[in-house]
Amino acid sequence: MNAYIAGTGSYFPPGLLTNQMLENMVDTSDEWIYQRTGIRTRHIAGDMSVLDLAEQAAKNALEQAGHPNCDMIAVSTCTPDMFYPSVACRLGARLGIDNAFCFDLSGACTGFIQAIEVAGNAIQTGSAKTALVVAAEKLSSGVDYTDRNTCILFGDAAGAFVMSGGGSEHVKASYMASRNQDWACLYADIGGHMVMNGRDVYKFAVDVMPEAMGKVLERAGKTIEQVRWIIPHQANIRIIKAAAQRFNLPDEKLVVTLDKTGNTSSATIPCIVDEMHREGKLQPGDLILLVAFGAGLTYGAVLYEW
Ligand code: COA
Repeated sequence: MNAYIAGTGSYFPPGLLTNQMLENMVDTSDEWIYQRTGIRTRHIAGDMSVLDLAEQAAKNALEQAGHPNCDMIAVSTCTPDMFYPSVACRLGARLGIDNAFCFDLSGACTGFIQAIEVAGNAIQTGSAKTALVVAAEKLSSGVDYTDRNTCILFGDAAGAFVMSGGGSEHVKASYMASRNQDWACLYADIGGHMVMNGRDVYKFAVDVMPEAMGKVLERAGKTIEQVRWIIPHQANIRIIKAAAQRFNLPDEKLVVTLDKTGNTSSATIPCIVDEMHREGKLQPGDLILLVAFGAGLTYGAVLYEW
């Protein structure tokens, strides 16, 4: 696939929710949360909408890409502010982008990986030239802050890529899948709060992360040793470590950021890529493996050459 990442952006709202603050809200402790999940704090959007978060991340990515004309806007979110129109259409209005193919995608935590796949294919076939791909999540609006099983896990954020065509092949392979019979492990009714069977989601995640990583490497004809960075969805440090163990991954290849963000659903992966890019950690030729799982139950991986 000849689509490449021309710009990256991210945004974390300034409000913080620490483990200590959660101790005053539910029957929990900093020690329990950190030991069982690896999370210490998360960002909370407060009055900011999902559209506000998306706008900030998109502006960062567009600026870095040199403000190209975008003919596609894809937004991944599981917490949209409105039933319709899409966040993508309203984001286009905010950014002054008209006439683009705009849509939202509901793939939960796997949503950004799915959106890259859709945008990359549209660029490959010529139906889009430049796509703004955003993940914007305000999990704080859908979590019950009296439920200690879920409220400790999640935070708010947005991340974005600008993807353009031309040049060499950067997306080496992708693998998208789902286990739909198990959807009831993790869901939210319209207007309701998140309902989660944490143990079942945990088992699913530990099973499918290595599967997706193995499949995408096989499709690309690459080995794990050739990969420079593994960027996994950040839900629980124990899930990440268990997946890493199956591949004997050295710690220095594994990117872990959840201590300061919690699980920001589909915004997780673009936010990490943006941070690493801005810190100069991604070098041309580096293979990066993005792998995610989430409600659906969905999962997937993309192998990308920087
Ligand atoms: N503070 C203190 N105790 C808590 C707690 C909290 N925040 N949350 C749950 N507990 C208690 C439980 O009530 C249970 O008590 P019991 O043994 O008396 O019944 C005990 O801790 C163990 O609960 P369990 O659910 O087995 O814990 P766990 O080790 O599986 O960790 C999760 C719970 C949610 C952290 C873990 O299952 C997980 O991360 N699952 C995946 C969730 C996920 O990734 N969701 C998003 C997908 S994108």
